[in-house]
Amino acid sequence: MPATVYAICNQKGGVGKTTTVYHLAAAIAETGRTALCVDLDPQGNMTTVLGKDDLKHDDLGIAEVLSSRTDVTIDDVVMPSLFTGVDVVPTPPESEKLAVVRDELVVTGAGREKQLSDALEPFKGKYDFILLDFPPTIDLLTINGMSAADYALIGSRGTEPPDPALRNSRGY
Ligand SMILES: Nc1ncnc2c1ncn2[C@@H]1O[C@H](COP(=O)(O)OP(=O)(O)OP(=O)(O)O)[C@@H](O)[C@H]1O
Ligand SMILES: [Mg+2]
Repeated sequence: MPATVYAICNQKGGVGKTTTVYHLAAAIAETGRTALCVDLDPQGNMTTVLGKDDLKHDDLGIAEVLSSRTDVTIDDVVMPSLFTGVDVVPTPPESEKLAVVRDELVVTGAGREKQLSDALEPFKGKYDFILLDFPPTIDLLTINGMSAADYALIGSRGTEPPDPALRNSRGY
């Protein structure tokens, strides 16, 4: 069975996206299954909390995988996490590279929204789950993530009136 791909997303910041990825990864490991967790947020918080090793700002990550200016693949950047059976496709903290690639994608031609989906394809047979941690934005990183995902988990605080970002996310 190919991996099921989950987008953990909300345009709103600080609603628990990264925390959800962390705990899902822990639960997946606990049940003896495997996951690849992809850090699509230029802040790199998921990499910091879930990655087994500390990265330097100039280490390779998902930015190079998504960039049309390099031939870097996920195999070149994947690293272990704190949990057995869970790997991380990182975004090094304090790096601006993913934000630069996000802007590059704006002027990339046809197929720009499928870069992540294409990069993940060979890994679907290697893991039970692929978890995508999103930035708190709607941009080409988010659109790439949504294009690659089978399901979206939209975290939200229980606010009244309802979080308008939830309605925006529905369009994707
Ligand atoms: N279920 C929860 N209950 C209470 N606090 C939580 C919960 N989930 C996350 N938090 C706290 O909320 C804060 C933001 O969480 P987190 O970084 O996971 O959000 P995020 O949506 O990934 O943020 P960003 O949009 O900046 O990436 C953290 O301090 C975290 O510990
Ligand atoms: Mg986050």
